Amino acid sequence: MLLWLTPLAAAKPPAAGIASAHPLATQAGHKILESGGNAFDAAIAITAALAVVEPASSGLGGGGFWLLHRESGNFNIMIDGRERAPLAAQSDMYLDNNGEVIPRLSVDGPLAAAIPGTPAAIDYLAKKYGRLPLSKSLAPAIRLAREGFAIDERYRRLASFRLNVLRKSPAAAETFLHDNEVPPPDFTIKQPALATTLEAIAQYGKDGFYQGTIAKKLVEGTRAAGGIWTLKDLDDYRVIERRPIQGTYNGIHITSAPPPSSGGVALLTMLNILASYQLNELDSIAQKHLIIEAMRRAYRDRAEFPGDPDYVDIPVKRLIHPFYANGLAASIRMDQATPSTSLPGMPADNEGNHTTHFSVIDKQGNRVAATLTINFPFGSGFMPPGTGVLLNDEMDDFSAKPGVPNVYGLIGAQANAIAPGKRPLSSMTPTFLDDGNRIAILGTPGGSRIITMVLLAVLDFARGGGPASWVGVKRYHHQFTPDAVSYEIGAFTEDEILKLSSLGHILTQRDNPYGNMQAVMWERKLNKVMAASDPRGNGLAQVD
Ligand code: DON
Repeated sequence: MLLWLTPLAAAKPPAAGIASAHPLATQAGHKILESGGNAFDAAIAITAALAVVEPASSGLGGGGFWLLHRESGNFNIMIDGRERAPLAAQSDMYLDNNGEVIPRLSVDGPLAAAIPGTPAAIDYLAKKYGRLPLSKSLAPAIRLAREGFAIDERYRRLASFRLNVLRKSPAAAETFLHDNEVPPPDFTIKQPALATTLEAIAQYGKDGFYQGTIAKKLVEGTRAAGGIWTLKDLDDYRVIERRPIQGTYNGIHITSAPPPSSGGVALLTMLNILASYQLNELDSIAQKHLIIEAMRRAYRDRAEFPGDPDYVDIPVKRLIHPFYANGLAASIRMDQATPSTSLPGMPADNEGNHTTHFSVIDKQGNRVAATLTINFPFGSGFMPPGTGVLLNDEMDDFSAKPGVPNVYGLIGAQANAIAPGKRPLSSMTPTFLDDGNRIAILGTPGGSRIITMVLLAVLDFARGGGPASWVGVKRYHHQFTPDAVSYEIGAFTEDEILKLSSLGHILTQRDNPYGNMQAVMWERKLNKVMAASDPRGNGLAQVD
């Protein structure tokens, strides 16, 4: 008789794995692990290093979500370090006397900036979850800020995109430009003021940023340039621990970002809709048709329901319940696309290519999936003098006026209206997957497309793909409005394009690929850690 033995799942990963959007940040993370830090210390080092070497995408002047798994006690939590509206913010602050949105006011300059959360999150991670003092975990970033880093083509492209707004802020221009122009290839950017601010955080924790000299400079700088920040805004800032969204799809346990991210809820709505079908048994056209219809329905809901959970009631339980998804699935026809206009009203959402994500696992099995942002490339473009801190333009993630699109084409409802101290709705979707053997840590930037990128990666995981496959998946996206599927070259075959079009889908091919996914997987039965960085970006995935 043959006896089949299931290989025993390893209790601990054989190696640590990190994937981030910049090689210097991945290396900073590994260095901290080598010097005795855990995944949370590494996350601090990576967050701070990205703030220095990827300044267009995230930074101390921004915010993010850090999804954590602590192996001891099998504990999952999300650190919400999302920016908050200043206390002087008002729902109509970006409208003129006729009630029309004033173009660019929520995107460029200090009035666009919400109160940053990243410095508080760094401090919180260190105190509650890390092993090392901030003086150790911030050391690589401080060195990179002082000694400088060589820019890449992506930096030059984004700096050129934001050239005019950077030129308007003397401190930002001096830091990120060269003689007021986009710096030449391989130029070294040094950030001594940012190094000093990081040192203040290393020494005093969050108080080094939200109180004292730096806080004073942040407030004086923004106000002198027309902003509305106060010292109380900074002093009041707190990160919030939030219970992640949890659900299952075909035996895969999903842990993802709760509100004020729309990501986890929309991801589960889509997966629950798709779970009503045997996707594997359908041809590729039927599969893609259903995936697009699931996206359409989840994004309709995204435009209506979510916002800051401390300000609005969100029917999260209902939205992630399989019965609710069954109801949504009931309106899907296999023989034709559902026109978005035939679904209950409410327009949606956006895209983009800034922001950043990293994924970490340490040898104890602790994990971090973190998506961080300052919103638009180089945020608001405004840097308060003497701080080295480039401010976000996260205020644009609010809906300035119902029905009027933001910079990414996003339209929202009352749930996401501006209010003092409120957190703007986000699409960032740091996510863990666990099918009992394989554990995945993943996420990506990309504005509203983040959620559909994570969806496509989850479906690839469900088909047995590994990290290199998830980050490489050719992407397509539907966000309810506009009623069109935008897709990367290669996402559909010629035959699929013809047949999906004949079902009534409007397909729009994008000129450029999008997203920058960073993923790590621990395969317990094979006792193997793998990591992959999106081929569309310049990141580094390293297993050590
Ligand atoms: O929080 C959000 O959803 C946006 N601020 C993220 C922006 C983004 O991903 C930009 N581009 N890739």
